[in-house]
Amino acid sequence: MSALKGVQCLVTAGPTYEAIDPVRYIGNRSSGKMGIAIAEELSHRGAQVTLILGPSSISVPETIGNIIRVESSDEMYQATVKVWSSCKLGVFAAAVADYKPKEVANQKIKKLGDTISIELVKTLDILQFIGKSKGADQILVGFALETQNELENAKQKIAKKNLDMIVLNSLNDKGAGFQHDTNRITLIDSENKITKFELKTKREVAIDIVNSIESKYFS
Ligand code: CTP
Repeated sequence: MSALKGVQCLVTAGPTYEAIDPVRYIGNRSSGKMGIAIAEELSHRGAQVTLILGPSSISVPETIGNIIRVESSDEMYQATVKVWSSCKLGVFAAAVADYKPKEVANQKIKKLGDTISIELVKTLDILQFIGKSKGADQILVGFALETQNELENAKQKIAKKNLDMIVLNSLNDKGAGFQHDTNRITLIDSENKITKFELKTKREVAIDIVNSIESKYFS
């Protein structure tokens, strides 16, 4: 029997959409596949999973008990803080927008001048916020998508966001990352143990991630 049986888990997945006006938004190319696969694998092992999912067109397996659909980073933040206090494990796979429009227009913006500027302000870093008040018995896993100084940047994120483990995706790897069915990851834990994996399907990568979490923190 899996040591994750009955464990309350939170997984965030997918992109966020940040509204510009009633018909337009700033988004990103995340499909949500990686986070959904992790939520599915945790559920297979008997964990009680809440999946907080940004706008994704991927169909979500029925085995995942509780799914909260959100659109913006603010909505993802609200949903996350409600659920997190009762969880033992959080896996933050969502590609949350780092910036959002300062003002959201009430009406559709008309085509007027030749150029247009939209002022952006930082969104709240949900993972960092949660990491700050992490309980002694809570395990927090984040993701990092890097294109340069990958290991160094990922290690800095572990410290900055108070993580137990980070999943590093490299955009330099062919076939890995956004909008692919495959991914190549490196896992780094807070003790600096680095484990590299081969290019695999996201389903297989999810199994590797959950195996590592289960054996290190729940066995
Ligand atoms: N994350 C989050 N809330 C945000 C931004 C990021 O919860 N507003 C989480 C992601 O789900 C992921 C991790 O933080 O687990 C990675 O963040 P990332 O955007 O890669 O790093 P940043 O710290 O924003 O730094 P940078 O974009 O400069 O690399």
